Amino acid sequence: MFLKTVAFILLAFLVQRAWKLSLGFGTSNVGYINRPGPCRNVAPIETGSEDIAVTSNGLAFISSGMQLSDMCSSAVDARFSQFVGRIYVFDFQNSKQDAVEVSLPKELQYNFSPHGIDLLEDSETGEILLFVVNHRKIGEFVEILSYQPESRSLSMVRSVTHELFTSLNDVLAIDRNSFLASNDAYFRSCWRILEPLLGLRWCNFIYFDGTVGQSIIENGHDFNSVALSRNGKQVYLTRPSEMKLEIYNRSKGTETLKLHQSINVGMAVDNVFSDQSTGDLWLGSHPSLALLTKHLSDIDLRAPSQVIRIQPLGPQNDPFNTYKLFSPFGDDGELVSGSSSAVHFKDKLLIGTVAHKVAYCEVQS
Ligand SMILES: *[C@@H]1O[C@H](CO)[C@@H](O)[C@H](O)[C@H]1NC(C)=O
Repeated sequence: MFLKTVAFILLAFLVQRAWKLSLGFGTSNVGYINRPGPCRNVAPIETGSEDIAVTSNGLAFISSGMQLSDMCSSAVDARFSQFVGRIYVFDFQNSKQDAVEVSLPKELQYNFSPHGIDLLEDSETGEILLFVVNHRKIGEFVEILSYQPESRSLSMVRSVTHELFTSLNDVLAIDRNSFLASNDAYFRSCWRILEPLLGLRWCNFIYFDGTVGQSIIENGHDFNSVALSRNGKQVYLTRPSEMKLEIYNRSKGTETLKLHQSINVGMAVDNVFSDQSTGDLWLGSHPSLALLTKHLSDIDLRAPSQVIRIQPLGPQNDPFNTYKLFSPFGDDGELVSGSSSAVHFKDKLLIGTVAHKVAYCEVQS
């Protein structure tokens, strides 16, 4: 009797977990084609463009070639191990041109598996600093790099690792030395699959102040991408399997975050981009995590893509108090499979993917 009861409770628990996960998994969802204007692929990117960061004058830095096979090779296409980590730059102001590869500092040339990316611009010197999550073979790093536009090259400023970096996803630059970073799992290996299955809350959100790292949100799960609001007073965090975007009030300096609001997007949201000129949020999203999983296990299988725009309509100190959701771009996976990021610059859109190409679109009103 006792065993039966235990078995029943266990079964009920697993069914409940599976049900919760299947919602975000979108097992029956498909991709619908929708264009904001003319769209095309941007050469030469073919091996992913997981995240994109944009300068105030429209230079887009794209992280490409993440080697997902390092995390769990049995779950992904063997071709991932051949991917080469790169940073590309695309100029929104010369948008007819291709993306151009940026040369990396020596220590990263054979040691680069880039994921989330952010940047800072020095308003006085004009220097551009990139902050890049790098899954090195030996551990998780945030690489801080300085961009030299004449030579289109990056030089190493600082390479940061920390015992709290368990499985980094994204980074938000605060100043030259400090940043926030999200862990999307505790395990870097295949064990990570157990975390959502068992509902383990082993993710955290980290503030590194230049010297010390500390956990500012603990016991979470499914932490993905982070971005800063226009006025710097709020932090956005995406939660793909929960299909929502969370808004935290930020205390500058101490970097404490207080959950203020949660927006149901109804889809697995990936990277979030905060448009500094309009205040809109742009999200690369996955209509079906089930099809994305298949695509990652065989890159030739397509996964649908969708871009979501969230327009704030609230007062300045609480902009998303009221909002509207738009879906300006959708694809069945042919133009772009598995859209993980979307960035906007003056009625132009760049859409990045986990392991596929990049799309550029004009946004016609
Ligand atoms: C977040 O900030 C807004 C605007 O200042 C305020 O109205 C709201 O109460 C804050 N929320 C929390 C949870 O502190």
